[in-house]
Amino acid sequence: MVGDRIRQRLGIRHPIVQGGMIWNAGARLAAAVSEAGGLGLIGSGSMDPDTLRLHVRKARTLTAAPFGVNVPLTHRHAAANLDVALQEGVRIFFTSAGSPAPYLPRLRQAGAVVFHVVSTPDLARKCEALGVDGIVAEGFEAGGHDGRDELTTLVLVPQVVAAVRVPVLAAGGIATGAQMAAALVLGADGVQVGTRFAATTEGSGHEAFKRAIVEAGATATHLVLKKLIPVRLIDNAFRRRVLEAEARGASADELRELLGRGRARRGMFEGDLEEGELEAGQSAGLVREIRPAAEVVAELVEECEAALRRVTQHE
Ligand SMILES: Cc1cc2nc3c(=O)[nH]c(=O)nc-3n(C[C@H](O)[C@H](O)[C@H](O)COP(=O)(O)O)c2cc1C
Repeated sequence: MVGDRIRQRLGIRHPIVQGGMIWNAGARLAAAVSEAGGLGLIGSGSMDPDTLRLHVRKARTLTAAPFGVNVPLTHRHAAANLDVALQEGVRIFFTSAGSPAPYLPRLRQAGAVVFHVVSTPDLARKCEALGVDGIVAEGFEAGGHDGRDELTTLVLVPQVVAAVRVPVLAAGGIATGAQMAAALVLGADGVQVGTRFAATTEGSGHEAFKRAIVEAGATATHLVLKKLIPVRLIDNAFRRRVLEAEARGASADELRELLGRGRARRGMFEGDLEEGELEAGQSAGLVREIRPAAEVVAELVEECEAALRRVTQHE
């Protein structure tokens, strides 16, 4: 049955992973998604090792179901966070932004399952050769940092599915069950969803940020900062200044200065909707309300099954 490889590999009931998200994915969200039968991920990209340890321990008190930790490998605490998560008994890791090669021996030795996020088929092939257990194929519709090559999910997923034998999760732009069904039809084993889960009751982002996602229309997000590290943001004063700077050919150094430090925290955690970074995907246009994560998981499953029935009845 579709999704079985992922269910078995990760020990979950539904082939739905809640993507790791800086400032948005703490213990409460990860535990709520896992408790609802998906896989919740604690986003360690905005945590130091002590904070991550607290979140892992808290998640354990909230659910007995498996959950994982997302580790962006360019984060200054990446190595220490991996160690802390391993010490705390975490055995599911979703790595991103950087090569998993230096970390794989240690993770394998500990018996961990490792999925890596990629934005091209070539990278998927390389990661499989390195020995990862699964791939997240993330199109550039996605919220947060995106691939430079701007491959969309619809185009990327079938090429990654053809390129590797390990399980593949589709990510980027997926906020409804019909889109989940589309990903499964393309050959994905399951989906990773970010933006929709950021706008849940249990998301750790600021309420104003969650409302900004709900209020965002279809064209509210754009990819910026390609000279540094491409990121998809909801339109605001900060993003407009970045666009202006880019239009006059600002150098990477100028852009770095404009970005400064702490923009993501300011926007998503502290709720400064004008001067902060508001990371969200194109799928924000499909998010209509802030709801409990368990309802989102249940709705995705129901809608996905209905969509698959609808198309097969028309054969
Ligand atoms: C607010 C936000 C923060 C994110 N932070 C991270 C992160 O720290 N690490 C990571 O691997 N992906 C991150 N992502 C990407 C998600 O894990 C996920 O792959 C992506 O959101 C999927 O696309 P979608 O937003 O269209 O659902 C982030 C996404 C959002 C919306």
